Amino acid sequence: MSTEHTPQILEELDLLPLWVRRELLAQADEAATAGASAPPAAITEIIASRPDPAPTIAPRSLSSAAAVIAPPGKPDAAVEEDTAKALDHRARATRIAQLDWATLQTEVSGCTACGLCKSRSKTVFGVGNPQADWLVVGEAPGAEEDRQGEPFVGQAGKLLDSMLTSIDRSRSENVYILNTLKCRPPQNRNPEPDELALCAPFLHRQIELIQPKLIFAVGRFAVQTILGREATISSLRGKLHDYRGIPVVVSYHPAYLLRNLPDKAKAWQDLVLATQTLGDKG
Ligand code: URA
Repeated sequence: MSTEHTPQILEELDLLPLWVRRELLAQADEAATAGASAPPAAITEIIASRPDPAPTIAPRSLSSAAAVIAPPGKPDAAVEEDTAKALDHRARATRIAQLDWATLQTEVSGCTACGLCKSRSKTVFGVGNPQADWLVVGEAPGAEEDRQGEPFVGQAGKLLDSMLTSIDRSRSENVYILNTLKCRPPQNRNPEPDELALCAPFLHRQIELIQPKLIFAVGRFAVQTILGREATISSLRGKLHDYRGIPVVVSYHPAYLLRNLPDKAKAWQDLVLATQTLGDKG
């Protein structure tokens, strides 16, 4: 396994920090509270392991993370740098996890955490009723979304709107729609793991504030971020999943459906599953 993205991998495994003194963790939390960005520098021994306040992904095996964390032959300085970055990332996630809706919006609109800020026109926070019981999670803004600052306003968005209309839902009334990434990847390329990891705290905080009763996740990267694992949409759809106690229905991305019309029937089944789930809960 490559060690290039060690902190990100550990972050995704929800196993950070493992090799950090308690006092360094306290410093990181203090820095987060004070809004400082510089992480503590030295990392020397294994003492503490605590749950991430805003885990991006469900925990897996401790031994696999331990194998990643101190790879034999990796220079100490590089390990320190990786861990400092991970602490910084953790402090940022902790701070974001405490923001209110308006401050979160401001934070997203000024975000420079990854390189996508350089090419974006507008950040895309979300649209709809923030009190809605139904949340649609998409992937990333496209060209039109980047121009308008609103998710799903292109062709895929029109299809999403008609899918929602077919079950008496709409973005103007009883649905909130957001993306996993808040900025457009250039040329609509796939999101990079670092971009997803850096944007995930915004998504988690949005969900915590909206408190939907159902999440309808469309497309591979949305599903990967919400469920914390990589799998094909076809292997995940048709059954209920869970995000911190909220039922999740997985479906194809509307942009995919535009290119694969026969799968629209399956997307309809997914909408029915979501509707029934909400009906059963409500
Ligand atoms: N695709 C998405 O996932 N989101 C958008 O906002 C537009 C297209």
